[in-house]
Amino acid sequence: MNLPAPQPRFEPADSLAVLCKAAGDPLRLNVLRALANDSFGVLELAQIFAIGQSGISHHLKVLAQAGLVATRREGNAIFYRRALASLDQPGGTLQGALLGEIDMLPLPAEVQARIAAVHAQRAAASQEFFARMAASFQAQQDLIAGLAQYRDSVLALLDSLNLPANATALEVGPGDGGFLPDLAQRFAQVRALDNSPAMLELAQARCLQAGLSNVSLHLADALSDEYPAADCLVLNMVLHHFAAPADALQQLAQRLCPGGSLLITELCSHNQSWARQACGDLWLGFEQDDLTRWALAAGLVSGESLYVGLRNGFQIQVRHFAKPDEHHGLRALTLR
Ligand SMILES: C[S@@+](CC[C@H](N)C(=O)[O-])C[C@H]1O[C@@H](n2cnc3c(N)ncnc32)[C@H](O)[C@@H]1O
Repeated sequence: MNLPAPQPRFEPADSLAVLCKAAGDPLRLNVLRALANDSFGVLELAQIFAIGQSGISHHLKVLAQAGLVATRREGNAIFYRRALASLDQPGGTLQGALLGEIDMLPLPAEVQARIAAVHAQRAAASQEFFARMAASFQAQQDLIAGLAQYRDSVLALLDSLNLPANATALEVGPGDGGFLPDLAQRFAQVRALDNSPAMLELAQARCLQAGLSNVSLHLADALSDEYPAADCLVLNMVLHHFAAPADALQQLAQRLCPGGSLLITELCSHNQSWARQACGDLWLGFEQDDLTRWALAAGLVSGESLYVGLRNGFQIQVRHFAKPDEHHGLRALTLR
Protein backbone atom coordinates (compact mmCIF):
# COMPACT_ATOMS: atom_id res chain seq x y z
CA MET A 1 0.00 0.00 0.00
CA ASN A 2 1.30 3.46 -0.93
CA LEU A 3 1.29 5.89 1.97
CA PRO A 4 0.88 9.60 1.09
CA ALA A 5 4.23 11.36 0.96
CA PRO A 6 4.83 13.35 4.17
CA GLN A 7 4.21 17.08 3.66
CA PRO A 8 7.30 19.14 4.34
CA ARG A 9 6.78 21.48 7.34
CA PHE A 10 7.81 25.00 6.47
CA GLU A 11 6.09 27.09 9.19
CA PRO A 12 9.13 29.08 10.38
CA ALA A 13 10.22 29.61 6.79
CA ASP A 14 6.66 30.58 5.85
CA SER A 15 6.50 33.33 8.45
CA LEU A 16 9.91 34.62 7.35
CA ALA A 17 8.71 34.64 3.74
CA VAL A 18 5.60 36.62 4.74
CA LEU A 19 7.85 39.17 6.48
CA CYS A 20 10.19 39.45 3.47
CA LYS A 21 7.23 39.78 1.09
CA ALA A 22 5.64 42.50 3.21
CA ALA A 23 8.91 44.41 3.27
CA GLY A 24 9.43 44.03 -0.47
CA ASP A 25 7.50 47.11 -1.48
CA PRO A 26 8.67 50.74 -1.32
CA LEU A 27 5.26 52.11 -0.33
CA ARG A 28 5.01 49.68 2.57
CA LEU A 29 8.54 50.61 3.69
CA ASN A 30 7.53 54.27 3.66
CA VAL A 31 4.38 53.47 5.66
CA LEU A 32 6.57 51.78 8.28
CA ARG A 33 8.86 54.83 8.26
CA ALA A 34 5.89 57.16 8.82
CA LEU A 35 4.75 54.97 11.72
CA ALA A 36 8.17 55.16 13.44
CA ASN A 37 6.91 57.53 16.13
CA ASP A 38 3.28 58.03 15.35
CA SER A 39 0.05 56.21 14.77
CA PHE A 40 -2.41 57.03 12.02
CA GLY A 41 -5.90 55.98 10.98
CA VAL A 42 -6.55 54.44 7.54
CA LEU A 43 -7.98 57.68 6.17
CA GLU A 44 -4.99 59.65 7.45
CA LEU A 45 -2.58 57.18 5.82
CA ALA A 46 -4.56 57.34 2.57
CA GLN A 47 -4.19 61.15 2.70
CA ILE A 48 -0.49 60.99 3.61
CA PHE A 49 0.38 58.58 0.80
CA ALA A 50 -2.13 60.04 -1.67
CA ILE A 51 -3.70 56.69 -2.52
CA GLY A 52 -7.23 55.36 -2.22
CA GLN A 53 -8.58 53.90 0.99
CA SER A 54 -8.82 50.37 -0.42
CA GLY A 55 -5.23 50.54 -1.67
CA ILE A 56 -3.80 51.56 1.69
CA SER A 57 -6.04 49.03 3.47
CA HIS A 58 -4.53 46.27 1.33
CA HIS A 59 -0.97 47.34 2.21
CA LEU A 60 -1.84 47.60 5.91
CA LYS A 61 -3.31 44.10 5.82
CA VAL A 62 -0.07 42.72 4.32
CA LEU A 63 1.98 44.53 6.97
CA ALA A 64 -0.31 43.32 9.76
CA GLN A 65 -0.14 39.70 8.55
CA ALA A 66 3.65 39.93 8.68
CA GLY A 67 3.46 41.26 12.23
CA LEU A 68 5.01 44.57 11.19
CA VAL A 69 2.10 46.76 12.25
CA ALA A 70 -0.39 46.46 15.06
CA THR A 71 -3.72 48.17 15.53
CA ARG A 72 -5.18 50.09 18.38
CA ARG A 73 -8.84 50.91 18.67
CA GLU A 74 -9.35 54.58 19.60
CA GLY A 75 -13.11 54.75 20.12
CA ASN A 76 -14.68 54.08 16.73
CA ALA A 77 -11.43 54.53 14.83
CA ILE A 78 -8.63 52.03 14.28
CA PHE A 79 -5.13 53.43 14.48
CA TYR A 80 -2.10 51.70 12.99
CA ARG A 81 1.26 51.69 14.66
CA ARG A 82 4.44 49.72 14.32
CA ALA A 83 4.51 46.40 16.09
CA LEU A 84 7.45 46.00 18.44
CA ALA A 85 10.04 43.52 17.18
CA SER A 86 10.38 40.56 19.48
CA LEU A 87 13.86 39.06 19.14
CA ASP A 88 12.82 35.59 20.31
CA GLN A 89 10.10 35.23 17.64
CA PRO A 90 10.94 33.80 14.18
CA GLY A 91 12.04 36.75 12.06
CA GLY A 92 12.44 39.00 15.12
CA THR A 93 16.12 39.75 14.44
CA LEU A 94 15.40 40.53 10.80
CA GLN A 95 12.44 42.70 11.77
CA GLY A 96 14.55 44.70 14.25
CA ALA A 97 17.31 45.20 11.66
CA LEU A 98 14.76 46.10 8.98
CA LEU A 99 13.11 48.76 11.17
CA GLY A 100 16.57 50.14 12.01
CA GLU A 101 17.32 50.51 8.28
CA ILE A 102 13.88 51.99 7.61
CA ASP A 103 14.48 54.64 10.29
CA MET A 104 17.39 55.91 8.23
CA LEU A 105 15.22 56.42 5.14
CA PRO A 106 14.25 60.03 4.52
CA LEU A 107 10.52 60.26 3.82
CA PRO A 108 9.74 61.99 0.51
CA ALA A 109 9.20 65.73 1.05
CA GLU A 110 5.57 65.59 -0.11
CA VAL A 111 4.83 62.79 2.38
CA GLN A 112 6.42 64.84 5.17
CA ALA A 113 4.29 67.82 4.16
CA ARG A 114 1.12 65.72 4.25
CA ILE A 115 2.05 64.30 7.69
CA ALA A 116 2.46 67.90 8.88
CA ALA A 117 -0.99 68.66 7.43
CA VAL A 118 -2.54 65.73 9.36
CA HIS A 119 -0.85 66.95 12.56
CA ALA A 120 -2.10 70.48 11.89
CA GLN A 121 -5.67 69.15 11.47
CA ARG A 122 -5.41 67.33 14.80
CA ALA A 123 -3.90 70.36 16.57
CA ALA A 124 -6.56 72.71 15.14
CA ALA A 125 -9.33 70.42 16.44
CA SER A 126 -7.79 70.56 19.92
CA GLN A 127 -7.34 74.37 19.88
CA GLU A 128 -10.85 74.89 18.61
CA PHE A 129 -12.15 72.79 21.51
CA PHE A 130 -10.46 74.93 24.18
CA ALA A 131 -11.56 78.17 22.51
CA ARG A 132 -15.17 76.92 22.59
CA MET A 133 -15.16 75.21 25.98
CA ALA A 134 -13.13 77.53 28.23
CA ALA A 135 -16.28 78.77 29.98
CA SER A 136 -17.24 75.25 31.04
CA PHE A 137 -13.66 73.99 31.46
CA GLN A 138 -14.00 72.68 35.01
CA ALA A 139 -17.22 70.82 34.31
CA GLN A 140 -15.68 69.23 31.19
CA GLN A 141 -12.57 68.16 33.14
CA ASP A 142 -14.64 66.67 35.92
CA LEU A 143 -16.34 64.35 33.42
CA ILE A 144 -13.16 62.26 33.51
CA ALA A 145 -10.69 63.57 36.07
CA GLY A 146 -10.26 66.99 37.62
CA LEU A 147 -7.10 68.35 39.22
CA ALA A 148 -8.42 67.42 42.69
CA GLN A 149 -8.05 63.77 41.75
CA TYR A 150 -4.37 63.87 40.78
CA ARG A 151 -3.03 66.99 42.53
CA ASP A 152 -1.77 65.18 45.67
CA SER A 153 -0.04 62.47 43.64
CA VAL A 154 1.75 64.98 41.43
CA LEU A 155 2.83 66.94 44.51
CA ALA A 156 4.06 63.76 46.23
CA LEU A 157 6.25 62.97 43.22
CA LEU A 158 7.38 66.56 42.88
CA ASP A 159 8.33 66.84 46.54
CA SER A 160 10.28 63.57 46.39
CA LEU A 161 12.62 65.15 43.82
CA ASN A 162 14.17 67.54 46.37
CA LEU A 163 14.85 70.17 43.74
CA PRO A 164 17.07 73.07 44.84
CA ALA A 165 15.47 76.33 46.05
CA ASN A 166 16.54 78.25 42.93
CA ALA A 167 14.96 75.71 40.53
CA THR A 168 12.62 76.92 37.79
CA ALA A 169 9.40 75.28 36.60
CA LEU A 170 7.58 75.32 33.31
CA GLU A 171 3.96 74.25 33.17
CA VAL A 172 2.71 73.46 29.69
CA GLY A 173 -1.07 73.78 29.28
CA PRO A 174 -1.96 75.11 32.75
CA GLY A 175 -5.64 75.25 31.77
CA ASP A 176 -7.39 77.40 34.36
CA GLY A 177 -4.15 77.61 36.38
CA GLY A 178 -5.29 75.37 39.23
CA PHE A 179 -1.81 73.89 39.74
CA LEU A 180 0.10 77.19 39.52
CA PRO A 181 -0.21 78.12 43.24
CA ASP A 182 1.40 74.77 44.13
CA LEU A 183 4.25 75.36 41.68
CA ALA A 184 4.69 78.97 42.81
CA GLN A 185 5.21 77.74 46.37
CA ARG A 186 7.89 75.28 45.37
CA PHE A 187 9.91 77.04 42.66
CA ALA A 188 11.84 80.29 42.42
CA GLN A 189 10.29 81.11 39.04
CA VAL A 190 7.37 79.51 37.24
CA ARG A 191 6.58 80.00 33.56
CA ALA A 192 3.29 78.75 32.16
CA LEU A 193 2.51 78.41 28.45
CA ASP A 194 -0.88 77.86 26.91
CA ASN A 195 -1.82 78.21 23.25
CA SER A 196 -5.45 79.02 24.06
CA PRO A 197 -6.14 82.71 24.80
CA ALA A 198 -9.39 81.79 26.56
CA MET A 199 -7.66 79.29 28.86
CA LEU A 200 -4.82 81.71 29.52
CA GLU A 201 -7.33 84.32 30.69
CA LEU A 202 -8.66 81.87 33.26
CA ALA A 203 -5.11 81.15 34.46
CA GLN A 204 -4.39 84.90 34.61
CA ALA A 205 -7.41 85.48 36.82
CA ARG A 206 -6.31 82.65 39.13
CA CYS A 207 -2.76 84.08 39.45
CA LEU A 208 -4.10 87.57 40.21
CA GLN A 209 -6.52 86.24 42.77
CA ALA A 210 -3.79 84.21 44.50
CA GLY A 211 -1.24 87.07 44.23
CA LEU A 212 1.38 84.86 42.58
CA SER A 213 4.32 87.18 41.94
CA ASN A 214 6.80 84.55 40.66
CA VAL A 215 4.57 83.18 37.89
CA SER A 216 4.64 84.47 34.31
CA LEU A 217 1.99 83.44 31.80
CA HIS A 218 2.58 83.29 28.08
CA LEU A 219 0.34 82.76 25.11
CA ALA A 220 2.51 80.29 23.21
CA ASP A 221 2.46 76.90 21.59
CA ALA A 222 4.71 74.58 23.56
CA LEU A 223 5.77 72.79 20.40
CA SER A 224 6.35 75.57 17.92
CA ASP A 225 7.31 78.67 19.93
CA GLU A 226 10.61 79.56 21.55
CA TYR A 227 11.02 79.69 25.33
CA PRO A 228 13.83 79.05 27.82
CA ALA A 229 14.57 75.65 29.34
CA ALA A 230 13.50 74.90 32.93
CA ASP A 231 14.58 72.55 35.72
CA CYS A 232 11.15 70.98 35.95
CA LEU A 233 8.57 70.62 33.22
CA VAL A 234 5.00 69.77 34.18
CA LEU A 235 2.36 68.43 31.81
CA ASN A 236 -0.89 67.65 33.56
CA MET A 237 -3.47 66.11 31.22
CA VAL A 238 -1.98 67.82 28.19
CA LEU A 239 -0.19 65.12 26.19
CA HIS A 240 -3.45 63.57 24.97
CA HIS A 241 -4.22 66.92 23.29
CA PHE A 242 -1.01 66.85 21.24
CA ALA A 243 -1.18 65.83 17.59
CA ALA A 244 2.00 63.71 17.77
CA PRO A 245 2.80 62.85 21.40
CA ALA A 246 6.07 60.98 20.77
CA ASP A 247 7.48 63.87 18.72
CA ALA A 248 6.20 66.27 21.38
CA LEU A 249 8.21 64.49 24.06
CA GLN A 250 11.32 64.76 21.86
CA GLN A 251 10.82 68.51 21.60
CA LEU A 252 9.91 69.05 25.24
CA ALA A 253 12.95 67.09 26.45
CA GLN A 254 15.06 69.78 24.77
CA ARG A 255 13.38 72.41 26.99
CA LEU A 256 14.62 70.64 30.11
CA CYS A 257 17.89 71.71 31.75
CA PRO A 258 20.42 68.88 32.19
CA GLY A 259 19.56 67.05 35.41
CA GLY A 260 15.99 68.33 35.18
CA SER A 261 12.69 66.49 35.61
CA LEU A 262 9.67 65.96 33.43
CA LEU A 263 6.42 65.20 35.24
CA ILE A 264 3.57 63.85 33.15
CA THR A 265 0.08 63.20 34.43
CA GLU A 266 -1.98 61.28 31.93
CA LEU A 267 -4.89 58.96 31.58
CA CYS A 268 -4.00 55.32 31.12
CA SER A 269 -5.23 53.86 27.85
CA HIS A 270 -9.05 53.63 27.80
CA ASN A 271 -11.83 53.03 25.29
CA GLN A 272 -14.34 55.74 26.25
CA SER A 273 -14.60 57.39 22.85
CA TRP A 274 -17.10 60.01 24.11
CA ALA A 275 -14.05 61.72 25.65
CA ARG A 276 -13.11 62.95 22.17
CA GLN A 277 -16.23 65.09 21.81
CA ALA A 278 -16.82 65.89 25.49
CA CYS A 279 -13.23 66.70 26.47
CA GLY A 280 -11.51 67.37 23.13
CA ASP A 281 -9.12 64.46 23.67
CA LEU A 282 -7.13 63.48 20.58
CA TRP A 283 -5.86 60.26 22.19
CA LEU A 284 -7.74 57.98 24.55
CA GLY A 285 -5.00 57.85 27.18
CA PHE A 286 -1.66 56.11 26.74
CA GLU A 287 -0.12 52.75 27.46
CA GLN A 288 2.48 53.09 30.22
CA ASP A 289 5.03 51.31 28.02
CA ASP A 290 4.48 53.77 25.18
CA LEU A 291 5.18 56.76 27.43
CA THR A 292 8.32 55.05 28.72
CA ARG A 293 9.52 54.20 25.21
CA TRP A 294 8.90 57.72 23.89
CA ALA A 295 10.66 59.29 26.88
CA LEU A 296 13.67 56.98 26.48
CA ALA A 297 13.82 57.84 22.77
CA ALA A 298 13.85 61.50 23.83
CA GLY A 299 16.99 60.88 25.91
CA LEU A 300 15.23 60.76 29.29
CA VAL A 301 15.37 58.07 31.96
CA SER A 302 12.40 56.64 33.71
CA GLY A 303 11.85 57.56 37.36
CA GLU A 304 9.06 56.84 39.80
CA SER A 305 5.44 56.40 38.78
CA LEU A 306 2.20 56.63 40.72
CA TYR A 307 -1.16 55.31 39.60
CA VAL A 308 -4.53 56.60 40.71
CA GLY A 309 -7.67 54.56 40.08
CA LEU A 310 -10.85 56.61 39.81
CA ARG A 311 -14.33 55.48 40.76
CA ASN A 312 -15.56 56.12 37.22
CA GLY A 313 -13.18 53.43 35.92
CA PHE A 314 -10.48 55.72 34.54
CA GLN A 315 -6.92 55.27 35.71
CA ILE A 316 -4.37 58.05 35.93
CA GLN A 317 -0.61 57.65 35.62
CA VAL A 318 1.72 60.21 37.18
CA ARG A 319 5.16 59.70 35.68
CA HIS A 320 8.58 61.10 36.37
CA PHE A 321 11.32 61.16 33.74
CA ALA A 322 14.73 62.74 34.27
CA LYS A 323 17.21 64.26 31.86
CA PRO A 324 20.71 62.99 32.61
CA ASP A 325 23.33 65.60 33.37
CA GLU A 326 26.57 64.33 31.88
CA HIS A 327 28.66 66.27 34.38
CA HIS A 328 26.71 65.82 37.59
CA GLY A 329 24.65 62.65 37.16
CA LEU A 330 20.95 62.66 37.86
CA ARG A 331 19.68 65.24 40.25
CA ALA A 332 16.44 63.37 40.66
CA LEU A 333 15.97 60.78 43.33
CA THR A 334 14.76 57.21 43.06
CA LEU A 335 15.37 55.82 39.62
CA ARG A 336 14.13 52.43 38.60
C1 LIG B 1 -7.08 69.37 29.53
S1 LIG B 1 -6.33 70.90 29.74
C2 LIG B 1 -5.33 70.57 31.17
C3 LIG B 1 -5.30 71.75 32.11
C4 LIG B 1 -4.52 71.57 33.40
N1 LIG B 1 -3.13 71.21 33.17
C5 LIG B 1 -5.19 70.59 34.33
O1 LIG B 1 -4.57 69.57 34.68
O2 LIG B 1 -6.32 70.83 34.71
C6 LIG B 1 -5.14 71.01 28.44
C7 LIG B 1 -4.52 72.39 28.29
O3 LIG B 1 -3.41 72.29 27.40
C8 LIG B 1 -3.44 73.40 26.51
N2 LIG B 1 -2.70 73.04 25.30
C9 LIG B 1 -3.01 72.06 24.40
N3 LIG B 1 -2.08 72.01 23.42
C10 LIG B 1 -1.14 72.94 23.72
C11 LIG B 1 0.07 73.36 23.09
N4 LIG B 1 0.50 72.80 21.96
N5 LIG B 1 0.80 74.36 23.67
C12 LIG B 1 0.37 74.93 24.82
N6 LIG B 1 -0.77 74.59 25.45
C13 LIG B 1 -1.52 73.59 24.92
C14 LIG B 1 -4.92 73.65 26.30
O4 LIG B 1 -5.20 74.94 25.80
C15 LIG B 1 -5.46 73.43 27.73
O5 LIG B 1 -5.39 74.61 28.49
